[in-house]
Amino acid sequence: MKNTALEKIQPYDKATSEFCSAVLSGLRRTPRAIPPKYFYDETGSHLFDAICNSPEYYPTRTELQILGSIAPEIAEITGPGAVIIEPGCGSAEKVRILLDRLSPSAYVGMDISGKYLKGVINKLSKAYPTLTVKGLCSDFIRPVNILDIPLGDRLIFFPGSTIGNFEPTDAVNFLKQMARLARSGGRLLIGVDLKKDPAVLNAAYNDSEGFTAAFNMNLLARMNNELDANFRISQFKHSAFYNEQSGRVEMHLVSQSEQVVQIDNTHFGFSRNDTIHTENSYKYSIKEFQTLARLGDFEPDKVWTDPDDLFSLHLLNVA
Ligand code: AVI
Repeated sequence: MKNTALEKIQPYDKATSEFCSAVLSGLRRTPRAIPPKYFYDETGSHLFDAICNSPEYYPTRTELQILGSIAPEIAEITGPGAVIIEPGCGSAEKVRILLDRLSPSAYVGMDISGKYLKGVINKLSKAYPTLTVKGLCSDFIRPVNILDIPLGDRLIFFPGSTIGNFEPTDAVNFLKQMARLARSGGRLLIGVDLKKDPAVLNAAYNDSEGFTAAFNMNLLARMNNELDANFRISQFKHSAFYNEQSGRVEMHLVSQSEQVVQIDNTHFGFSRNDTIHTENSYKYSIKEFQTLARLGDFEPDKVWTDPDDLFSLHLLNVA
């Protein structure tokens, strides 16, 4: 039989206590904010997949179209035998376009979820039997042991405009880290969402089937389930809008009433319309991103966009 009393006094595991301290410190801050990496539990990851397939969320399909059309050109630039490294590889679906065209010697996928990564690496090894395929269980923010990467010219692949979820100063630090990982002579192929008509952006983060809203609201359920919080989910609403001044889409959870929430013996009071800021998704013009790349120890080489200028893929050389 389940002993709930005992369950409650059991200490959190490492991941849960990290989540707990991020939530507590984020809710004590003004304005209140929780980092977007906590969206991605199992439910959140499925909801993110649904977002990517929604008609309003153009980045995924647009990036795939661009990748398909530029892969032969990238193959020509890199030549055969490259080592493709993918930080935060997830399901490693997009990289197959490169694996199919580039004749690389090795693929190294990096992800924090070791169990998930193992399955992804097994699948890739079967699909590409002559390729050396390695998985590194690592947070892409942390430095990598150089000995874990096979020999060869390195091409780092960072699609999806995940760089947009970093504050610009953190993005520069991340790029510097990628430049160290790519080493001299190495390259970074990175997907970056472009500035555009705010109506297109607002629709992309407010899809009509409600996947983005559910993805945002799932964070409340996650805090209730994992941290024993008592958020009344119906008393919060999803909000996402393009903040033109900051050049970013912001996501918030907005309190619908005056209420008090308890998490880990701490009480947080919310007035009506108080928000928890859950994500920024920065959008960059090509020039803006090239400036960021230079600050991050890269030299821009080539950039490709789709015909509607929705999304960009930058090929950068280590400076
Ligand atoms: C992962 N990241 C690039 C997505 C984005 O567009 O910022 C996450 C997302 N949030 C809401 N919809 C998608």
